[in-house]
Amino acid sequence: MTNNRRRKILVTSALPYANGSIHIGHLVEYIQTDIFVRFLRHIGEDAIYMCADDTHGTPIFLKARSLNITPEELIARYNIEHQKDFGDFHILFDHYYTTHSPENEKHSKRIFEKLTKGGHIFTADVEQFYCEEDSMFLSDRFIKGTCPNGNCKAKDQYGDVCEVCGMHYDPTDLFDPRCATCGKTPVRRKSRHYFFRLIDFEDRLRTWFSGGSALQPETYNSIKEWLDKGLKDWDISRDAPYFGFRIPNEPDKFFYVWLDAPIGYVATTEHYCKVSGKDFDEYWFNPETEIYHFIGKDIVYFHTLFWPAMLMGSDYNVPRSVYVHGFLTVNGEKMSKTRGTFITARTYLDNLDPQYLRYYYSTKLSSNSDDIDMNLEDFRFRVNADLVNNIVNIGSRSVTMLVNNFHGKIGSMNSETASIFKEFTDKMDSIKSHYMEREFSKVTRTVTEISDRTNKYFSDNEPWKIISENPAQAHETCTFSLNVFKFICTILKPILPKMAAEVETMLDIPDQKWDEAKITLPNDHKIHEFKHLMSRVEKKSIDKMILSSREELQRKAEPKKSVAPVVAEKQQKTVSFEEFAKLDLCVGQILSVEEIPNSKTLYRLKVDIGKIITLIAGIKTSYPNLESLKGKKIVVVANLEPKVFKGIGVSEGMLLAAASPDGNAILLELANEAECGWKVL
Ligand code: 2FM
Ligand code: ZN
Repeated sequence: MTNNRRRKILVTSALPYANGSIHIGHLVEYIQTDIFVRFLRHIGEDAIYMCADDTHGTPIFLKARSLNITPEELIARYNIEHQKDFGDFHILFDHYYTTHSPENEKHSKRIFEKLTKGGHIFTADVEQFYCEEDSMFLSDRFIKGTCPNGNCKAKDQYGDVCEVCGMHYDPTDLFDPRCATCGKTPVRRKSRHYFFRLIDFEDRLRTWFSGGSALQPETYNSIKEWLDKGLKDWDISRDAPYFGFRIPNEPDKFFYVWLDAPIGYVATTEHYCKVSGKDFDEYWFNPETEIYHFIGKDIVYFHTLFWPAMLMGSDYNVPRSVYVHGFLTVNGEKMSKTRGTFITARTYLDNLDPQYLRYYYSTKLSSNSDDIDMNLEDFRFRVNADLVNNIVNIGSRSVTMLVNNFHGKIGSMNSETASIFKEFTDKMDSIKSHYMEREFSKVTRTVTEISDRTNKYFSDNEPWKIISENPAQAHETCTFSLNVFKFICTILKPILPKMAAEVETMLDIPDQKWDEAKITLPNDHKIHEFKHLMSRVEKKSIDKMILSSREELQRKAEPKKSVAPVVAEKQQKTVSFEEFAKLDLCVGQILSVEEIPNSKTLYRLKVDIGKIITLIAGIKTSYPNLESLKGKKIVVVANLEPKVFKGIGVSEGMLLAAASPDGNAILLELANEAECGWKVL
């Protein structure tokens, strides 16, 4: 790495499916990637972090159908939820988008056309099950039957994978197949499918991965094994009904979700460049730019064979490396809904500080793809011992003493502490390598050693005891400890950005970059009072989180009530409580906002009130930036007589707002805890 030229780096995490909530298993990857990118920015590299929702495919199509909403509405809901969850875990994307975007459709078609022109795409007939009742081919999750594994034979399994034994198979392998929609026995029929000839890229793939010293050895071995076994053609089309992008000139065929999903990395970058004024070509067409993907070990095949081959065949940049992590287990077992260890991001956040998880995962993360265990006792112990009692303790002891005895003024270090401090800062190069190599557990271990020594020095020197007879020495000890505290917080900034920022405010210093970690606070610099930074993890909070996770499972099993519109009564001057109670006021969340052509005052909003409704509201002049409305929780009158706006559409309710004397509407907003569909009384 040269000092004068900033590396241009694009980093991604796998795109989460838009049909489920983020959970602590997902967070291993997003926290890992976030720390990596924050570190790159911290040391001054030009790094961006791109992510998006993965919105296409059969499970999303079917989930929307079961909720009686469109797939577009479903993915809009999850996009808001996912972004809020990630934000609350301090995961800082430069851009978070969706694969259901015009940019993604454009790049998917462009890549498909390039691959077609290059002769890498062919069509072939595939025999598939077809439901004559529903007039459709039954792929993947449209079909159910008995698992074909002779040792398993589990009933009621989907057409792609058995959820009991984990075996992957083709739908036509199922025993006793039935249409998942109507239950009828399907017939076999031929359908023409599009295939990508992966073998055409064998040589280039071999060169790519052999040159890629950055690939983990286990990933390298898997790819080698797959290549040596022989690469199979990849079926990249699906028949209607499907939620995805249509294949050009094919009315009833769609790209398989796994074709357009990784292209979402490209499309997100393009949208990011559009809104930030950056040059898109620099990322995906300049081979100097380094692209890194973080993924879980279940999707290595897609990211190390199909994806680079697609990019090679269409002249886009190929990733420098793909970093693979293991799965999360909780208390040594797979996350389990019944045990309450299937913990969603939101349930975690309702009970615990996100910084604990960022720190704990760091103590577990390394460059290999072994599974990571979150033992809840160990989690509590580590966070309390390392973070609260060790690291934060240095800050609280030294700041409190400096403020109480020295007017908050920094002194100087003596020759002994100056040399210990230098010994600590000399470790920066090796800590930097640990970050670069994703060996975060080594970072936290080194910091714990530094904290141990600093706390010991403080205790051994007993500044609180010698303060009256030798204030100068007490001042030196506190100054040393505080300098170390500043050093540690700056070093840990990629892991604990919130705490680092709070400490900077407390110490009255500007946003610290990596190189500034070793700079000591100047003599006489004045700091503020100690501000509480972090509490100990209580066992009862963990127990409550487990209990809530179990309850959530039960709540999810019950179908959501939908709110039926009822015609409103005519208003009187005063109303009785019974009359008031006829109003169905409920919590709604704004999912999307659209301009209405030629209207200066109206917006069309999609609002989630337990079901999705359309509202036409005159709030445009009060909220000219329509993006600012997205995600807001508001109060909706759900049973107002639907109102027809001529040439525009129907409004199925009304939102409540305060009307200012000068005609501004100020929305009645609710705290995020209020859930869509809850009654407002
Ligand atoms: O496995 C998954 O959760 C996929 N949604 C990951 C997609 S990553 C990329 F290819 F889009
Ligand atoms: Zn059917």
